[in-house]
Amino acid sequence: MTRMLVTGGAGFIGANFVHYTLARRPEYTVRVLDALTYAGGRRTLAAVDDRIEFVHGDVCDAALVDGLVADSDLVVHFAAESHVDNSLHDPSPFVRTNVLGTYTVLEAVRRHDRRLHHISTDEVFGDLGLGSDGKFTEESPYDPSSPYSATKAGSDMLVRAWVRSYGVRATLSNCANNYGAYQHVEKFIPRQVTNLLSGHRPKLFGTGAHVREWTHVDDHNAAVHLILDRGRLGETYLIGSGDEHSNKAVLELILDLMGESAAGYDHVPDRPGHDLRYSTDSGKLRRELGWQPRYPDLRSGLTDTIEWYRDNEWWWKPDKERTEERYQQLGR
Ligand code: NAD
Ligand code: DAU
Repeated sequence: MTRMLVTGGAGFIGANFVHYTLARRPEYTVRVLDALTYAGGRRTLAAVDDRIEFVHGDVCDAALVDGLVADSDLVVHFAAESHVDNSLHDPSPFVRTNVLGTYTVLEAVRRHDRRLHHISTDEVFGDLGLGSDGKFTEESPYDPSSPYSATKAGSDMLVRAWVRSYGVRATLSNCANNYGAYQHVEKFIPRQVTNLLSGHRPKLFGTGAHVREWTHVDDHNAAVHLILDRGRLGETYLIGSGDEHSNKAVLELILDLMGESAAGYDHVPDRPGHDLRYSTDSGKLRRELGWQPRYPDLRSGLTDTIEWYRDNEWWWKPDKERTEERYQQLGR
């Protein structure tokens, strides 16, 4: 049995990773370390509660992390503050968790010589022009725009430096925008779906011309497993479906799939410094490791995702009111 430690495993992608791993990879035992911030919940792991060990704690707690890493063969590091709008309002937890937390994990895996996979984002590369056909590659220069992406860029740099200077056995991945079950209602797709389910109008930042590349969370996590199995140590892999849409087009698709009028939404003030377009070239992952998305286009995964939110109000309802109050304070 391989003992796997998953940091941030009570959040959106980390919890889906835990579910995915338990369903498909019986050779792993899974232990989750999560601080249960506003973004993490035990209820997200309720279905697998008796099959994991859950540790409630902070990834910046060096003594705790050291002990957990010593007792694991492999660490998959998802824990982070993840929401751009929150980072614009208060960057401090982002600097702490994303930079200091990654440093803490790195020092522990260095001490105990454990394999690490670091989860990151395409936002570290900044943005691309609207209407351009450029794509980020593994060689693109880092040029983050927001406090969130700057701290994720810092965390990636630490991992790369620990690989080179100390020979830490790590890989990195930078994924495009994810969607799927258990995504917090602060994020674009769940916010709009749950607005409609609650009888409220969706909210589009600015003109909605901004473009994102949507990747199903299970496709992200399948890629992470391929990298764990066969990725080359020290290497970075970009992950993305290749399916790009403007925010306005995504919102119109949600309205259509939920049987609402295409005009049934509000424009709200734009996000400061809003990145225009993200697009990844995931050719390296596809060529070297044979990754193919099961959901090559957003439409193919969105219907099930909407159904999931329709069927699981118990999961998202407790966060909805507080999230909308926060957006109201931000004027968005
Ligand atoms: P999320 O906000 O849903 O979950 C983050 C989890 O980390 C939560 O369970 C939270 O409680 C936990 N956490 C936060 N601070 C912690 C701390 N100090 N100690 C321990 N646990 C802590 O985030 P997500 O969307 O699931 O993102 C997970 C990772 O994937 C992040 O590293 C993010 O940068 C990256 N990523 C996200 C996306 C996306 O579209 N959501 C895309 C690419 C990469
Ligand atoms: O690209 C990967 C990144 O994707 C991850 O690293 C981040 O953790 C994740 O949050 C996501 O960042 P974005 O800022 O792109 O995602 P978000 O869901 O916040 O917004 C997606 C787009 O939708 C963005 O252009 C802003 C816009 N938006 C968002 C919300 C919440 C709206 O128009 N209206 C909204 O209500």
